[in-house]
Amino acid sequence: HRCAAVIPAAGRGVRLGPGAPKALRALGGTPMLVHAVRALARARAVSLVVVVGPPGEAAQVRTLLDDHLDHLDSTEVVVVSGGDTRQDSVRLGIAALPGDVDVVLVHDAARPLVPVDTVEAVAAAVRAGAPAVVPALPVTDTVKQVEPGGEPGRPEPVVATPERAALRAVQTPQGFDRRVLTEAHEKVPAAGEGATDDAGMVERLGVEVVLVPGHEEAFKVTRPLDMVLAEAVLARRRA
Ligand code: C5P
Repeated sequence: HRCAAVIPAAGRGVRLGPGAPKALRALGGTPMLVHAVRALARARAVSLVVVVGPPGEAAQVRTLLDDHLDHLDSTEVVVVSGGDTRQDSVRLGIAALPGDVDVVLVHDAARPLVPVDTVEAVAAAVRAGAPAVVPALPVTDTVKQVEPGGEPGRPEPVVATPERAALRAVQTPQGFDRRVLTEAHEKVPAAGEGATDDAGMVERLGVEVVLVPGHEEAFKVTRPLDMVLAEAVLARRRA
């Protein structure tokens, strides 16, 4: 098996507040994307990392990575340009994979602190024969379902309360048999809101998706408070 990682990093990071594209913002003095690339490249299973940068900014991203990633031993890092949606960016990343890659991990640049053991566990489960593998954690908040498209500012009526014990919050890297992931991206319509993760697209093909334990430190940096948490986790690791 040859395993590659695709890292979509083309998001603007609007929810994080004004500033550079999210993946390029500094965490502990180093761009978030560099942390994410290192986290994947460190895994023994991963021999190639494809970074999907903001459209038109691939050259800058390449320079940034060259400045930071001098000791990445044998892991090759390629940079391509992304698209308007995460789905487009992932598709462009998959298109850049060489023919001998048969296992693909898709990892959000916005999860810079994923532990290497989580990456290895996902890759190992795909290598052991699962077509689609997702790291997941139990949900701590009770989750309410609402009718989408309510008026902003108006209280939202609750439609249902799914049983919390039956819910999982999923993370990345999500690991796939390459053919399954490619087929999902070819066949599942780019229905905007429909697909917020790659495994969800694979599910729509009718292919089984399985979960392995995720990790608290693989949380997604989305809002300003997440940056505070990420800085604290990094400081603890460096202590
Ligand atoms: O917006 P969200 O936090 O769900 O984005 C998840 C990941 O998808 C981030 O790493 C972001 O950079 C990436 N993304 C992308 N292309 C887009 C939008 C998001 O690569 N057009």
